[in-house]
Amino acid sequence: MLQVNNVTVVYGGVTAVMDVSFKVKDAEVMGLIGPNGAGKTTLMRVITGTVKPVQGTVFLESTPLEGKPPHKRIRLGIGLSQQIVHPFKSMTVLENVAFVAGHGKTGHPVMSVFRHSRAKEKQKAMEILHVLGIDKVAEAKPENLPLGYLKRLEVARAIALEPKILLLDEPLAGLNQLEARQLADKLLELNQLGHTILLIEHNLGEVIRICDQLVVIDNGMKIGQGEPHKVMDDAVVRSAYLGEGHHAAS
Ligand SMILES: Nc1ncnc2c1ncn2[C@@H]1O[C@H](COP(=O)(O)OP(=O)(O)OP(=O)(O)O)[C@@H](O)[C@H]1O
Ligand SMILES: [Mg+2]
Repeated sequence: MLQVNNVTVVYGGVTAVMDVSFKVKDAEVMGLIGPNGAGKTTLMRVITGTVKPVQGTVFLESTPLEGKPPHKRIRLGIGLSQQIVHPFKSMTVLENVAFVAGHGKTGHPVMSVFRHSRAKEKQKAMEILHVLGIDKVAEAKPENLPLGYLKRLEVARAIALEPKILLLDEPLAGLNQLEARQLADKLLELNQLGHTILLIEHNLGEVIRICDQLVVIDNGMKIGQGEPHKVMDDAVVRSAYLGEGHHAAS
């Protein structure tokens, strides 16, 4: 589904990502983990097209993404849910998702409103809210909702564009243990519905529980890859976490 090949990113002379490669298979939940400042968000930005690598390529299925701006990548099927939630404050939860659903992949946002019936969009949005367990607050305004709901709304809006792969940057950050577990369960449900997910997350308990595969980044370099329990048992990976990004004896 997604292929990241030998990606290197340099910010003003400092190498943030160094020759990283990995693949995400269709219908897989892939965890991208590593200590703070490891280069995870930078890699995600390379995939979405907001950061240009000095070297390396990204493929979505067999399509090379090089040179394509972010909005074209979204059309091709790169879905993104960012760490900072920013719903439209004047719209209800349902309207937020229906609005995005209306953009679809069909072209101009305003024209798409004419092309589809709004009832259809609202129905689709309601189904997505149901999957994420926030259909009960469909008519509420986002500003009145706790963070746990807003995080789910952010995922719902990403799903509404029907992405081929869903990129999630720390969807569980700021949530308490119960909320984090509930949203992680929802991500598993989405995966069971066929969604391919690339998940950046510091909550290792949930990561190990829901991911099929992990890629571990430390100081911009890939230091581990594979099945979660095996990866977390690896001495190099363990020392990267214990040393908070600074290599202890490994
Ligand atoms: N726009 C930028 N300009 C310069 N340096 C940057 C920029 N963005 C990130 N960096 C640096 O690149 C490195 C990787 O940062 P990145 O945000 O990708 O890490 P991360 O793994 O997402 O960390 P965290 O877990 O804290 O979110 C860090 O050293 C960071 O300071
Ligand atoms: Mg980050």
